Amino acid sequence: MEFKEIVEKNRSYRRFDQSRRLDKKTLLDLVDLARKTPSAANRQLLRYVISCSPEIDSRIFETLSWAASLPDWPGPEEGERPAGYIVIVADEDSWDWARVDLGIAAQTILLGAAALGLGGCMLGNVRKERLKGILELEESLAIQLVIALGKPVEEVVLEEVGEGESITYYRSEDRVHHVPKRKLADLVIRICD
Ligand SMILES: Cc1cc2nc3c(=O)[nH]c(=O)nc-3n(C[C@H](O)[C@H](O)[C@H](O)COP(=O)(O)O)c2cc1C
Repeated sequence: MEFKEIVEKNRSYRRFDQSRRLDKKTLLDLVDLARKTPSAANRQLLRYVISCSPEIDSRIFETLSWAASLPDWPGPEEGERPAGYIVIVADEDSWDWARVDLGIAAQTILLGAAALGLGGCMLGNVRKERLKGILELEESLAIQLVIALGKPVEEVVLEEVGEGESITYYRSEDRVHHVPKRKLADLVIRICD
């Protein structure tokens, strides 16, 4: 796959073939990609918890909130839930730049998953204290982001929208998930050439 195709395929997927379990090696390989990404001052403050245990996965699932812009959809039903998770954690008082590392690491994990024909979704809307208990994390660590992963079973398409048009994602009647993205010309505010 061309890099552009991987980026375009790398959407937020929220429905999976739950029976296609992810193994420990796949999840560790994805974290290994994140390990090799840039880090402010190379401090490498992020830590990772992986789960491919159906029992822990179902407990992680209970702490997640899905697709706030689809209020009539309670999230993936049994059978379409994620088949593995990578939870990114960092020390409570980590310096602000760790937030930048977090985005780089999370996107690299998802690009790596897309390159393997998998997909996922970053979730920041998480009942963090509850999840911290489930994962038995030490007190000083805070949940930063959950990455749900699996073999997607939904179609997600990008659409271009102009200034003033809605950027709210939506599902059409055929259950295709539509994600409006602003046009390149509306994002590049100045070209110095
Ligand atoms: C930092 C961050 C946190 C997110 N948290 C959630 C979340 O809690 N629940 C969810 O369903 N989607 C979450 N998303 C996914 C966004 O809704 C998604 O990126 C957006 O709708 C655009 O779709 P796309 O990723 O396919 O471009 C999150 C995305 C990011 C970058």
